[in-house]
Amino acid sequence: AVPEREQWSGQFGFIMAAVGSAVGLGNIWRFPGVAYESGGGAFLIPYLVALLTAGIPILFLDYAIGHRFRGSAPLALRRLGGRLGEGIGWFQVVICALIALYYTGVLAWAGSYFVFSFGEKWGDDTLGFFTGEYLQVSDGAERPFTLDFVPAVLIPLVLMWVVTLVILGAGVVKGVQRANVIIIPLLVIGFLALVVRSLFLPGALDGLDAFFTPDFAALADPGVWIAAYSQIFFSLSVAFGIMITYASYRRRRSNMTGAGLVVAFGNSSFEILAGIGVFSAIGFLAHQQGIGVDDVEGLTGPILAFVTFPAIVSEMPGGGLMGALFFGALTLAGLTSLISIIEVVIAAIRDKFGLTRGQSVAAIGVIAALSIVLLGTTSGLIALDTIDQWTNNIGIVASAIITTIVVIWIKRRGGELARHLSAVSTFKVGTLWVLFTGVVAPIVLFYMVVEKVRDLITGGYEGYATWYLGVAGWGSIVLALLGAIILPLVTWRNDPDRFDEWPS
Ligand code: PHE
Ligand code: NA
Repeated sequence: AVPEREQWSGQFGFIMAAVGSAVGLGNIWRFPGVAYESGGGAFLIPYLVALLTAGIPILFLDYAIGHRFRGSAPLALRRLGGRLGEGIGWFQVVICALIALYYTGVLAWAGSYFVFSFGEKWGDDTLGFFTGEYLQVSDGAERPFTLDFVPAVLIPLVLMWVVTLVILGAGVVKGVQRANVIIIPLLVIGFLALVVRSLFLPGALDGLDAFFTPDFAALADPGVWIAAYSQIFFSLSVAFGIMITYASYRRRRSNMTGAGLVVAFGNSSFEILAGIGVFSAIGFLAHQQGIGVDDVEGLTGPILAFVTFPAIVSEMPGGGLMGALFFGALTLAGLTSLISIIEVVIAAIRDKFGLTRGQSVAAIGVIAALSIVLLGTTSGLIALDTIDQWTNNIGIVASAIITTIVVIWIKRRGGELARHLSAVSTFKVGTLWVLFTGVVAPIVLFYMVVEKVRDLITGGYEGYATWYLGVAGWGSIVLALLGAIILPLVTWRNDPDRFDEWPS
């Protein structure tokens, strides 16, 4: 007899895992700075519009596909839309594999900085410490292509991979679900403590003032709307195949949309909480340095986390604890997202080649080992950031556009999926959902991706050479496309269309 497909033990386990995937680096280091630069308090308007017109509808679409067709991204999409669908699935799998490399790198840094917090090892020149002493890339674009190993990064990198693969190897319930059920409450408590402490720092209110003061004029700028849609998109982890995979492990009769709303609003709450915490701390930094909040630099991304935040910690009495809370939170939030990204790859190769979980985890381990050899070097660390830019801003958005068009227009499965979602769920969806998913979302996303492509072609990225952006940036997209074209031609171990031959 065919074994059962793995299943979450219930609604709660699924929600914790889905929240774990959604809440990640994007909430902590991306949202606060993006909101601040895109209209402050007024940004909440495009942000909410993006959440309701594209984020939640596509989240539901992912859930519906995974739950109805019960498979990893390539399998579920194959059952929905033949080889074309399968291709989209593999596109997502390749993107996830690439993003995993970047995510593990950042996690390794966060883990190191957690340790550095005790004793505030970064000293006064936090930028010099990060790029020079720690990453050893401070010559920047001048000398990124050495193959020198960076041992301080290598050890935590290996550690992060081992932890992640051990959790994934333990299975959906005993590994993924259990890790999230433990980590998410811990993360929320630790992060709340950090926010509350930040609120009581001198200057905190100035920071909050800067963060929340609405600049309604910003709403006339299309760039602000693009920023809102792209933040929502990345933040909810939609169109990566993640939610398809996670939804495929739910029991047949499950309340999908109810859980989806909890996940979506939980994720947004965490973002706003992070905005409050980060900007209180930035207000404090401005206060200490006797400058305005507007004059503080490095408000997003790795620089916020590894340069600005350590500077804040250095200014505080007993800052080590704050540092530990911050980097601990960053590590845990990132780890639960990383688990979800890699599960996409594991589930896909299991389904396609009929492997056991152990075998596919081992296969990933081999790839990980190779990547460590390459990425433990200075050039690897720099390339990852470029890969991330392209996969996130172009790869994922393209994947979302194509998925909605294929599902709603080419295969015409909108009505069927809406009925599937509404059959058991508390929150019913219908025509409006199909309209948002099939019309509004693809139009906005198309506009977004065109703008971004134009931007990258005319403006380049971080001043890197064009040939290099061609290889690392466009090359990642080409790799995903190759996966999308070639892998559907490879024969399945079990016939994907005969449900009875598969674990249900
Ligand atoms: N949603 C995560 C965040 O906000 C990012 C992420 C993207 C996680 C893709 C998994 C996959 O940080
Ligand atoms: Na998020």
